[in-house]
Parts: sequence; structure tokens; C-alpha cells
Amino acid sequence: WGSILAMLIVNVVTAVPLPPPDVAEYCNSEERCCMPRPYVGQPAHQFYPDPELPIRIRRPVHLLTDAEVARLERAYQLQKDLPDSDPRSFTNQAKLHCLYCDSGIYYPDNPWPLEIHNGWFFFPWHRMFLYFHERILAKLLDDDTFALPFWNWDNQTPEEPYANVLPISYAKSGSPLWNQQRNKCAEPPLIIDLNTIGGCTAKSPSVLRTENDRIMYTQVVSGAMSPQLFYGMPYRYGDAGGHGPGTFEDNPHGTVHLWVGNPDSESGMFDDMGNFGRAARDPIFYAHHSNVDRIWTVWNTLPGEQRKAPVDPDFLDARFTFFDENGDLIIVNVSQTLDNELLRFRYEQMPTGWVTNGQ
Ligand code: C2O
Repeated sequence: WGSILAMLIVNVVTAVPLPPPDVAEYCNSEERCCMPRPYVGQPAHQFYPDPELPIRIRRPVHLLTDAEVARLERAYQLQKDLPDSDPRSFTNQAKLHCLYCDSGIYYPDNPWPLEIHNGWFFFPWHRMFLYFHERILAKLLDDDTFALPFWNWDNQTPEEPYANVLPISYAKSGSPLWNQQRNKCAEPPLIIDLNTIGGCTAKSPSVLRTENDRIMYTQVVSGAMSPQLFYGMPYRYGDAGGHGPGTFEDNPHGTVHLWVGNPDSESGMFDDMGNFGRAARDPIFYAHHSNVDRIWTVWNTLPGEQRKAPVDPDFLDARFTFFDENGDLIIVNVSQTLDNELLRFRYEQMPTGWVTNGQ
């Protein structure tokens, strides 16, 4: 009994929700992921949503006006021009993503690196990563109304032929929205294949549309009836790696990454978009994840008693550290991420034909 009691006590002591990692201090990855060192020891502030912020409407990239595209390009150019010493720079944004998933962060008392993929932190972590990314771009533009666009790849409506192709504004070589490391078969007007294994596809446009609707239906509607199915497996402090992604994280979230990445990249890992450590080096990452986040908000409105977030305190009370628009370290609790209205952003309503067409 003594040893059972001792085990229980050890468990009580170690079973805490994820503490906020010191992203500057704990970096133990290859240099490419580490954030600038001047932030070591900087105090981190707790995040509170700002009720004064204007509501920002995130719009589909393919419907942006010329002026909106120009503003987006300006924002990314400004971010790319920031020096490497600034944690808000485009390079450092990509590093922050890399840090959280590519064996970058080790807590001092924990042998395993922190992993925000492959489990229930996938949606909340990426929501806040995007939130601060958007706020940084807004600050650089000096325009609080700035909203990230979303790449509406789930929209198979033939009347909107630019929704499910790589957005034209991200495909113009030399633009700050462009990236060199991509799949040649992901160039517009080639329709995305949400079932891809990477590279090119021989499927016809109409087959792609039908299959894309079907995969959306099984991953978001019929196959994702519970928090565990949609959010993925629990991941707790001290765990070794994620225990399994939710339906949607796996596919189509993952297949969009693979489809955009270059199948012939040197690493053999479909750089940049298909490689965790490099994905956020491609500006399309943010428009892709904006759509991922949008589909999370759609899932919340689908019928089904169980379509809610997990209520486990190891989920709700987990904390993550980001850099805000001023370059300050900021801590967010997962419970603060679940309501996009509180965060003051919304998505423009777009057709979700897959809810019925995919059956
Ligand atoms: Cu952090 Cu789409 O991956």
C-alpha cells in the first residue's frame, strides 16, 4: 500500500496542466527554430482579450478586392523587412511554429519536447498563433481593422473556380505572398486534391470536386461527432509526443500542407508547407490555417449534442506563450481561445456545400 500511495502522490504532483513554456529559454532545437536570445528572462504577461478592438471580418482570399490584396502584400512586406532580432519578424513567426512542434521546447523537468500537433491542442494553439500574427500585421500597417484572409479550399462550387485553387495573389512570383518552395502541380488553375499523397494528381476536376466534398463530410460532419474525434487525443504535461490527431487535423488539414509542398525538395519532406519545421515560412500557411480555424467555427454550429470542446482541466487550463504585436511575451490559457467572438474576429459566410453534398 505504501508504494501505491507513493505512486499516487507522485502522480498528483506531476499531473498539472501544461505550464507556459519560456520560448526563449527552453529552446533546445537546431538553431533554425530558436527565437532571438534577448528575450531570455523577459517577464511574460497574461493575455486578456481587448473588448475595444474592432470586429475584424476574415474574408476569402479569392474574393479580396485589389485594395485588400495590396494591403495584405504591404503587411507581409513590412513583416519580412523586420530585423532578425525582432520576434515579430516573418522569419521568427515561422520559427515560433517550428519551436512548438519540431522538438524545439523542452521543459526543464521533462524529457520530452512539447508538441502542439497530433492531439487536442491543435485548434487552440493555431488559433492564437494566427491571432497574434494578425495583430502584428495590423500593428505594422497601423490599422486595427486588418483581418487575415482565408484560403477557401473547402468550397467546391463550380461558380467560384478560384476558391479551391492556390490563391492567385499568393502565386505571383516575387510577391511578398509568394514562396519558391512549392509543388508545381499546386499552381492555379489546378484544383486542390484533399486526398493527396503529395505531388501531381491525374484526377479530373469533377472527380476532385466530388472527392473533396466527401472527405470534408467524413472528417468534419459524420466522423467528428465528439470532442475526442474532432479535437484529437488528450495530450498532457510530460507526455511523449501527441497520441493522435483529430479527424480534421489529419486530413484535410495535413493534405493541404502536402499538396502545397514541393515533392522534390532536398529534405524529402515536401518543403516548405509539408514540413512542420518549415511550413510557416510560406505565407500561404496563414491563409490555410485561417480556413482551418474557420472550419472549427463551422463544426461548432453543426447538429450533435457532443460537438463541444473538451472540458478536461488539462485542456482548458493549459497555457502557451506567444509574442504579441508589441513583441512582448504573452501567456494564453486554452480556455481563452474557444470563443472567436471574444477575440473579436469573424468569418465571412461562405457556402459549406460539403455538409450535404459530401454524403
Ligand atoms: Cu502547425 Cu498546419 O500546422
